[in-house]
Amino acid sequence: MKTKYIYKILILLFIFNSSCKENAKGNTEIKPDGIEQKVTSLLAKMTLEEKIGQMNQYNGFWDVTGPMPSSGDAAKKYEHLKKGYVGSMLNVRGVKEVKAVQKIAVEETRLGIPLIIGFDVIHGYETLSPIPLAEASSWDLEAIKKSAEVAAKEAAAAGINWTFAPMVDISRDARWGRVMEGAGEDPFLGSKIAVARVEGFQGDDLSSSETIAACAKHWAGYGFSESGRDYNTVDVGTSTLNNIIFPPFKAAADAGVKTFMNSFNELNGIPATGNAFLQRDILKGKWNYDGFVVSDWGSINEMMAHGFAEDKKAAAKLAVTAGSDMDMESYAYVDELANLVSEGQVDEALIDDAVKRILRVKFELGLFDDPYKYCDSETEKEVIGSKEINDAVLDVAKKSIVLLKNENQILPLKKSGQNIALIGALAADKTSPLGSWRIAAKDSTAISVLEGMQQYSENKLMYAKGADLVYGETTFAKELNINISDKSEFSEAVSVAKSADVVVMVLGEHGFQSGEARSRTNLDLPGVQQELLEAVFSVNKNIVLVLNNGRPLAITWADKHIPAIVEAWQLGTQSGHAIAQVLYGDYNPSGKLPMSFPRHVGQVPIYYNYKNTGRPVIPAPNEVFWSHYTDESNKPLYPFGHGLSYTTFSYSNLQIEKVNEDEVEVSVDVKNTGDVQGKEVVQLYIRDLVASITRPVKELKGFELIALNPYEKRTVKFILTKNELGFFDNSGVFVFESGDFKVFVGGSSETVLEQDFEL
Ligand code: NOJ
Repeated sequence: MKTKYIYKILILLFIFNSSCKENAKGNTEIKPDGIEQKVTSLLAKMTLEEKIGQMNQYNGFWDVTGPMPSSGDAAKKYEHLKKGYVGSMLNVRGVKEVKAVQKIAVEETRLGIPLIIGFDVIHGYETLSPIPLAEASSWDLEAIKKSAEVAAKEAAAAGINWTFAPMVDISRDARWGRVMEGAGEDPFLGSKIAVARVEGFQGDDLSSSETIAACAKHWAGYGFSESGRDYNTVDVGTSTLNNIIFPPFKAAADAGVKTFMNSFNELNGIPATGNAFLQRDILKGKWNYDGFVVSDWGSINEMMAHGFAEDKKAAAKLAVTAGSDMDMESYAYVDELANLVSEGQVDEALIDDAVKRILRVKFELGLFDDPYKYCDSETEKEVIGSKEINDAVLDVAKKSIVLLKNENQILPLKKSGQNIALIGALAADKTSPLGSWRIAAKDSTAISVLEGMQQYSENKLMYAKGADLVYGETTFAKELNINISDKSEFSEAVSVAKSADVVVMVLGEHGFQSGEARSRTNLDLPGVQQELLEAVFSVNKNIVLVLNNGRPLAITWADKHIPAIVEAWQLGTQSGHAIAQVLYGDYNPSGKLPMSFPRHVGQVPIYYNYKNTGRPVIPAPNEVFWSHYTDESNKPLYPFGHGLSYTTFSYSNLQIEKVNEDEVEVSVDVKNTGDVQGKEVVQLYIRDLVASITRPVKELKGFELIALNPYEKRTVKFILTKNELGFFDNSGVFVFESGDFKVFVGGSSETVLEQDFEL
């Protein structure tokens, strides 16, 4: 075996040497490291079946996110692996397992091409950061990048070299369970976060054994599924596509993301997997993207259910023609492509192009130099769960918390002499805070709020569960035989609340209530939690409500009655420590919402960058004919960008200066008007007042996170160029139209200062 392996390395060295020679002949297309040449030379040695093998990705031999393969399939996978008909595997993890499959690919196949090992490292591997929506609330690009960096390091130590992240789908619909996995509703913030996460995962050197390839997903439109129901139809116009949906993908591509994943949804009648407009025209055409596109799980075959492909063979043809390079778990390429090529239905050049893209990434990862570079069991032991990783996830967890409301300065809590009642199943839960997408994290490994608060031992802490946690209002509760209306433990909660100075209630969603296939039709507190909140409120009004959830919730009653509300999302492994530090003021909250919170689910989709309509305002008292609801305000409960601090900030002196014909400088003075240090996300929005395509009433175009000492004042400056002021027209061309603009600045999308200018 070993000799065979050395022999293969020699072949590869030979390829590398010849590529250097050809390089010296002056081929300017060749990258300095000769990767293009190595790819071409290797491709020339491959049979059609081996090429198609590179385009084939199999799940490990168990089920994770899709239908379970039958045992027959497992045998087929193993057979294919040995023949070199598998280019990648997903959900194989841990040094031992990865090494075992890699060994087959490298030592038992004819060409010994290493596998690329994919895994959903969505917010960490075994040690978890906050869910991505929570991290987005930090608006702290450095912390987000660091979180991706440590996630990559931990995953790489477990043999993984490719993550299916970041998910950069913009979504305006909190019913969609996968909002937990993205960066919220705004394309500008979403683009910045996409870049931070790609840079964090991939680092400066992809060939390092601490970095992994990233994947921008889901290309495209997945966050706009009708009714917020996962996998549902998407029908959006060109303006929304170009101005809202595409920008974070483009930012990820520009940041060098190595792969894209297409999506389950159809987009305007064409399933994304078979969508040549998305994959060929835009991604690989207009954007000249040279990475590869993996299908989503089984999405090639799903084109049959969509009514777009009549059988698996047609699906394979449609997908490869449209630019899907790798087939995740459809068995369509491996079963059908060779025949399609030999029958002349698919041009082999398409296969070559796909394979080159895949091999290129494998070379860049350094897998050909050392296929076992991610497989060191000592490193695995040292890195997984290390202090460095736990420190980084705690840091970003604190920064992800959003203080939604804080009346009478009930927060921060006093550190001694207090009787504190802690109520709610989630307060003691060590699993739900891990959130969805935690395949490698062990259950019960999160620090609970109870544990976090116990660190502050000079107060008396009394815990009561109040009610069971509901896992899915209907479907899951039934399956798990949970009585979702059980109130038998309310009385204990009410009794501890009665004797408390302050009540901390941790309510929200079960960790698996959001995520893939976890759409909801209502956005209330699930189960009997609302009733529990009201029961406790009836005996003690001094309540701090801490929310643990994977999506915006409609907590209108709580907003009206509860003095302090903390949005703590699902914060990962260090959750309880982060929450306790914020509650006790050891960390002054600085998060801002990346998604609007509705007053009622009926307002959804609700987002700050809406269009004005022809009837935006009430024309006269009691007038009916304007764009509104008759039973609820148009406004969100908490707007995009909202978040308080234990101090306050004032904004003044907004100035706009024309730097030259193409840009203006905007400056504003921001002052910490309280007596504790605090951080503020200074946000800048614009509005193009009249344009050839209607523009949103506000668009975020700049933000800066600043730290200010008590009473410190700072001038914050932004530059606005035609890039920020322009937009994509309906033919997808970026245009700048000169004229009148408005600038708004403040600490949320409901800004405090505004001024007009002309450019
Ligand atoms: C399906 C999901 O849509 C996708 O995001 C994920 O990466 C794959 N399953 C693999 O687990």
